[in-house]
Order: sequence, then C-alpha cells, then structure tokens
Amino acid sequence: MLMMLEKDHGLTNKHIRYKQMNLLEQSIGKIARDIPGATSVFHKYGLDFCCGGSKSLDVMIKKKGIEADPVISDLHKLIDLGELSSSWNAASKAELVVHIKNRYHDIHRVQFPELIRLSARVEKVHADHPACPTGLTEHLQQMLEELELHMIDEEENLFPLILAGDISKARSIAEKLEDEHENHGRMLEIAEKMTHDISAPEDACNTWNALYLGLRTVKLDLMQHIHLENNVLFDQIKTEVSHNV
Ligand SMILES: [Fe+2]
Ligand SMILES: [Fe+2]
Repeated sequence: MLMMLEKDHGLTNKHIRYKQMNLLEQSIGKIARDIPGATSVFHKYGLDFCCGGSKSLDVMIKKKGIEADPVISDLHKLIDLGELSSSWNAASKAELVVHIKNRYHDIHRVQFPELIRLSARVEKVHADHPACPTGLTEHLQQMLEELELHMIDEEENLFPLILAGDISKARSIAEKLEDEHENHGRMLEIAEKMTHDISAPEDACNTWNALYLGLRTVKLDLMQHIHLENNVLFDQIKTEVSHNV
C-alpha cells in the first residue's frame, strides 16, 4: 500500500526522507554524492563541493555570503525530478579506481597540454589587450606538473593498496592526497581570477574563446574528480577503517 502511495506521488522512501532532512545541516559532499545534478547547483552558486565537501551546506553558503533559500529550492526541485543517486556511491572501490583513472587522469593529461598551447597563443597575440590573461600559460604548466605528480602517486601507490585491500595504509596516503586536492582547488581559483571568472571579452578571437571553453570544462572535470575521491572513494576507505578498529 505504501509502495503504491509512493508510486502515485513519484517519491520513494529515500526521496521522502531526503525532503524531510534539513539540507543545510548535511555535508555538501554528501549532498553532491546523493542528489544527481546537485553539483551543477553548487557550480551555479560557486559553492565548493569537492575540497569543502566535509563542511555543511550552511557553512559553505555563509562563507560564500549568499542567500540559502534559492540553493535549497534548486536542490528540492532536483529531488522531485529524479532518482536519488547511488551510482558511484554504490560502486566498488575497484570500479571507482578504474573510472577515476580512465575518465579523469587520462583526460586531464590531454586537456592541460591543449589549454597550455591555446593559452601561449592568446598571451602572445593579445599581449596588449587589457583582458589578456597574462601569466596563465605558466600557471597552467605549474598546475599540470603538480597534478601529474599527484596522479602518479595515486596510480602507483594509493590505487594498488586499495586494490590489494591494504585499507589502513591507503587511508594514511589518502589524507596527504586530500591536502593536495586543497591546493588544486586554490590553483583553480587563481586561474579563474586571471581570466575574469573565465569570461572572454566581446572581441575575443576563436582561440581565446576555445581556451576559456576548455578551462571551464577542466574546472568542472577537476572538481568532479576531486569530489569522487574525497567524498566517495576516500570516504569508503575511512568508513572501512573505522569499522575495523
Ligand atoms: Fe585522481
Ligand atoms: Fe586526487
């Protein structure tokens, strides 16, 4: 009977529980993990769900200095619209490791060199333009170098430990990697400042527009990548270690 009622209203028990929860008290990482599309709401309001994932939505909204109601309203619309996600949340650690490597590490290794190439061209051709992102090329090179060392550490140390089931050692490495994620987030913020929130001027050429389009994509990908590690994979490891204590 309950199932029928729920079906009539298009809501499952999980949806109803979620709607009754005070979202402001939930960690932003948990909301990003549970509600499909929540990350796009967080992008819309400039809320950091990857590195700031352990903080509550309330804390992050106050830190950003924005109104809570529109954010909550957008999240409730998503809950009404769709299934609560359990896709990557329910995936095994081995599946997550393969997905992160293929979808994010390998893609970043293609994205960044192309951005660096485009940026060098824009800086060279438009050096006199007041909106020229001076220094962006060097900044992106530094980001790639740091990211590459970080990804190698994950691929050669963290992921093999996870796959071998050595969870307590994996946890201590994950803590160091979380600190590095914070740094990636800061580097992204600097890139955004250098590019006026990744907004090209009206008279930007095709290369400049392509550079900023690529930079927006890298930003979304890198945030999703860090979210999957901090709030899903590393969270699973921490939970497992605490159950074994
Ligand atoms: Fe990674
Ligand atoms: Fe990472």
